[in-house]
Amino acid sequence: MCFAMFKSAARKLVLTPTGILSRAAACAFRHDCRRTAVTLRVSEALSGNELGASVKVQGWVRAVRSQKDNLFIHMNDGSCLESLQIVASSQLNDALLTFGSAVEVTGCLKESPKRKQPVELLAEQIRVVGQCNTMDFPFKIKERHGLEYIRQYPHLRCRTNVFSSLLRIRSEAAAAVQSYFRKKGFVQIHTPVMTSNDCEGAGELFQVKPAGEAKEENHFFSVPVFLTVSGQLHLEVMSGAFSRAYTFGPTFRAENSQSRRHLAEFHMVEAELSFTRSLEDLTEVMEDMFRSATEHVLAHCPEDVDLFHRRVTPGHRDTLDSMLKKKFNVISYTEAIDILNHSAEEFVFPTDWGCDLQTEHEKFLVKHCGSVPVFVTDYPYDLKPFYARGNGGRPRRTAAAVDLLVPGVGELCGGSLREERLELLEERLQQAGLVDAYGWYLDLRRFGSVPHGGFGMGFERYLQCILGVDNIKDVIPFPRFSHSCLM
Ligand code: 4AD
Ligand code: MG
Repeated sequence: MCFAMFKSAARKLVLTPTGILSRAAACAFRHDCRRTAVTLRVSEALSGNELGASVKVQGWVRAVRSQKDNLFIHMNDGSCLESLQIVASSQLNDALLTFGSAVEVTGCLKESPKRKQPVELLAEQIRVVGQCNTMDFPFKIKERHGLEYIRQYPHLRCRTNVFSSLLRIRSEAAAAVQSYFRKKGFVQIHTPVMTSNDCEGAGELFQVKPAGEAKEENHFFSVPVFLTVSGQLHLEVMSGAFSRAYTFGPTFRAENSQSRRHLAEFHMVEAELSFTRSLEDLTEVMEDMFRSATEHVLAHCPEDVDLFHRRVTPGHRDTLDSMLKKKFNVISYTEAIDILNHSAEEFVFPTDWGCDLQTEHEKFLVKHCGSVPVFVTDYPYDLKPFYARGNGGRPRRTAAAVDLLVPGVGELCGGSLREERLELLEERLQQAGLVDAYGWYLDLRRFGSVPHGGFGMGFERYLQCILGVDNIKDVIPFPRFSHSCLM
């Protein structure tokens, strides 16, 4: 009934400087709609709870099509994947009302005759808030742009359905990780972004200094300072007072890599557990966190995830379901080397005991384990940083370290038990010439030291893993990598 009234009333339209309004239409609507227009998000409008209400919605035009007397506009405001269909008289058409323009629409929410779209908005007034020059706009109406294409426009790609889905999933996944740790009693610690140590000892540091600082003796901090490569050491400080602690923040590595799984700025989730004597205590948390966060994401943004699994990475849903169904595998580094050496595969990098596992090895091991995630434990002692706890065993000495390898990505998490024995730690720091820099770290072993351990998970790699996205640059809002820091 409201729609019939709308059609007859809309014939007498008037244009106003701020929009296009039919007074007669407005009158007719008021019989059927509640009086004051409340501002709703598109997701709220689509929920069906406000049927019959006079509402205002604001967003960007994703599609516009004129058919006989009617104009159909699809509007999205980032609150959900689905766009709200706005039905207007074709007389409301305006040259500025184009694909990509920002609009504000007031009208009445009605049940839609089409099943696919349960709710639609019968427009009473449409105001173009910001026009969009469609000739120059890099995205075209009705075209599906690939991830690689939209990557060229970091300042505009959030306007596409696929990237806005990614950003909603990312936001939900971050909340899921936080909620997991809170539920399990971990205390969140804001570890510093600027630090004077190199946790991983790999020398992949970005130095921080005031612009224009030229001379060494004028150091702003009096010592060289770097962007953090891991919050682990600061988290270890906290593990002397909090038996469960975690951090989740930006992490920086000057890795000169153009690979599909490395960024210069990424986000890491790190946890540290005190009174922990076995790698199993760590692998249990890693697996539990992975399952819990993924189930949360699948339950809270099913349409967005489905868009990826249907359109971007077909077939990945089966891989993910099988990851969630089966228990993760566990093999030792020594077993992994055996598997690689007995395979018929030709690897580019060596697979001798003592060599680090490369991406090609990691991907092979995951396939070998039935495309189910696999923990590789007890790496050669010399491959691991100074903090990793020695296992003993000679001549093949190992450290109590573990990596979680997942399908499509390879290494997702890295962790270890930490060397809590003062003399052994001192000895290792001495060998590395680091005793002076790490006096405070040795203190942690002097005052109430406990066996402890922890791990870090690359958050972007996690998103790659659950969505099946091949390139890490497509799961972060603004990717930074060697030779590229756009904006
Ligand atoms: O294995 P990593 O280097 O471990 C650490 O930094 C430990 N201190 C963590 C800890 O025990 N608290 O890094 C952890 C994870 C990797 O498994 C990987 O997923 C991710 O961080 N990562 C990267 N992600 C994107 N780009 C890079 N350049 C990355 N380097 C590591
Ligand atoms: Mg690692």
